[in-house]
Amino acid sequence: MLDPGRIMERCDALARHSELPGGLTRVFLSPQARAATDNVLGWMREAGMQAKLDAIGNAAGRYEGERAGAPCLMLGSHLDTVRDAGRYDGMLGVISAIECVHALSARKKRLPFAIEIIGFGDEEGVRFGTTLLGSRAVAGIFDSKALHALDSSGQSMSTALNEFGLDPNRIPEVSRKKGQVLAYAELHIEQGPVLEAEGLPVGVVTAINGFSRLRVTLRGAAGHAGTVPMKLRRDALAGAAECVLATEKVAKGHAELVGTVGRIEAKPGAINVIPGEVMFTVDVRAPQDPLRNDAVAAIRSHIDKIAKDRKLDCEIENLQEFGVSACAPWLMDQMDKAVARQGFPVRRLPSGAGHDGMALGAITDICMLFVRCKGGISHSPLESITQADAAAGARVLSDFIEHFEPRGLSA
Ligand code: GLV
Ligand code: MN
Ligand code: MN
Repeated sequence: MLDPGRIMERCDALARHSELPGGLTRVFLSPQARAATDNVLGWMREAGMQAKLDAIGNAAGRYEGERAGAPCLMLGSHLDTVRDAGRYDGMLGVISAIECVHALSARKKRLPFAIEIIGFGDEEGVRFGTTLLGSRAVAGIFDSKALHALDSSGQSMSTALNEFGLDPNRIPEVSRKKGQVLAYAELHIEQGPVLEAEGLPVGVVTAINGFSRLRVTLRGAAGHAGTVPMKLRRDALAGAAECVLATEKVAKGHAELVGTVGRIEAKPGAINVIPGEVMFTVDVRAPQDPLRNDAVAAIRSHIDKIAKDRKLDCEIENLQEFGVSACAPWLMDQMDKAVARQGFPVRRLPSGAGHDGMALGAITDICMLFVRCKGGISHSPLESITQADAAAGARVLSDFIEHFEPRGLSA
């Protein structure tokens, strides 16, 4: 029997592993991540799974099928959070999947395929500025250059892995081969308002929007805020302000495009000093890759022009990009059927947020089930879901798992 009360309690329990007093921040390879991962490994074992911490810091569990060593249906989501986060983004998917396996093992039921659940150590990319590190490793597309990335205290990912008790040289062992994973299915809160507006508890995802991320550095000249006349200044922050507005204008140019400057740092950062150097990030997302690529090109050229006009030096780095990840029609059909069997209207919708499935798409077909969240709010302590909706999501996921027909086996 699925226990939705336990799903909610476990989301609460993981939320206590936080570096932010009174709130939730849990970044990749932190002591809080270790504690949360240990909890999850324990719950996987309680659910009858074999479970271990893998070489990239994921919690990885396996429930064998009727035949040991069979290919698996992979389920999962992430255990890291943004800063001052909610308690469901990521964690709900991992905990709900464990609940589904718990229900199977309580009935001693084995399926013709294995089930693997992964609580990915990094999806949000908060600590090292590069996302999907856990799922990239599993998909065999982890770029070892990321090991040299530094966190804000100057520690490299490689050192952080060592401090976590892991050996970076073993990361390739985490990767699965095509054929070992029959499909990847992820339950996640919607992080948008559509399901709530339509009075629906769940929705079936059609595709995950692609994203591009840039880091821009503008360099002008610091100087005295009282003595340097306005016309002689090279103020990097005033230039950055124009760039922020140009980004917004480009993004507003198409209904399906979004663009965000989410981080900005001005140096030296004093009330009476003209800012000499500014770093800011740009995040652009769209449901079509050409639309996103054109927007990024337009933003880059606006930034170059603004910098030139203001005599600022300008450096634009491509931090990351990921194309649109379509969910597989055969899996969406099976998820639709599970939704209908559980008595809910079938609604398909795209995902504006990024998810681990983007990386898993390198080795297998993917699908996702969205669960309604209050006000569509996420990446905020206000993130909230009802126990009834957690129950609806777990019921549909469980139904999907038990009726899952791998494409190869049914053909
Ligand atoms: C991850 O949550 C993202 O979409 O940025
Ligand atoms: Mn998130
Ligand atoms: Mn997420």
